[in-house]
Amino acid sequence: MNYKELITKLDKSNMPRHIAIIMDGNGRWAKKHKTKRINGHKEGVKAVRRIVETAVEAGAEYLTIYAFSTENWRRSKTEVSYLLKLIMDSLVKEIDELIKNNVNIRFIGSKEKLDESYNKRVMETCKKSWKNTGLHLNVAMNYGGRKELLDAFNSILADVCSGKLDTEITEKIVSDYLYTAGMPEVDLVIRTSGEERLSNFLIWQSAYAEFWFTQTLWPDFSREEFIQAMLDFQQRKRRFGER
Ligand code: IPE
Ligand code: IPE
Ligand code: MG
Repeated sequence: MNYKELITKLDKSNMPRHIAIIMDGNGRWAKKHKTKRINGHKEGVKAVRRIVETAVEAGAEYLTIYAFSTENWRRSKTEVSYLLKLIMDSLVKEIDELIKNNVNIRFIGSKEKLDESYNKRVMETCKKSWKNTGLHLNVAMNYGGRKELLDAFNSILADVCSGKLDTEITEKIVSDYLYTAGMPEVDLVIRTSGEERLSNFLIWQSAYAEFWFTQTLWPDFSREEFIQAMLDFQQRKRRFGER
């Protein structure tokens, strides 16, 4: 069945409101094709384009994709600088198409370690899409769940010290200080390449998420598989602690 037919099978009243994807396996894809790792990342960008388009077609509300983690700085200097450049170049290249598709795009993650000019360019490019009312696309860039929580706690502390905040800390307050403030919690986490771990992705927001794993390497991830993940989600019985 092609993905368009699969989309018609989705129950619109039970959609995962927020889907998060750990796009893994670019390096192994490159190895399999006897080419350089960077070519795996390049191919990965094509998959991003395909999956974002499909998310729009399926009427998804929030999609967060893991592009670069706070741990990915541990890779070689060459790979890191290639990834930073690729992510920026892809954003700049795709922005007009994204705007046309009514996508509202933002980058979430820490600004530390990235040049000020880099952050400024990202912000100015994304800003052009902020009036859009369709898919909310978050690119997790220099993102780490623990870093996000630390940033939140430090901001809360600063606001308590300055008298701006005068209450005990609640779940709502923590959520409001995260990069994802105002967004729904994650319903579905997809990870490609056969790895079954969170790797510091959206640890607070995924507390009650459903997980969906596939052996497929990210550059090979298809529109059909993506919709299948949503269909499988709709078969799950979410209990939230109830009997
Ligand atoms: C995912 O692919 C992309 C990033 C982490 C940026 P990998 O580069 O982790 O690919 P593998 O895991 O080595 O195959
Ligand atoms: C997670 O993938 C980060 C991104 C997809 C950007 P990694 O490949 O870096 O994760 P680990 O190291 O296998 O846990
Ligand atoms: Mg990996």
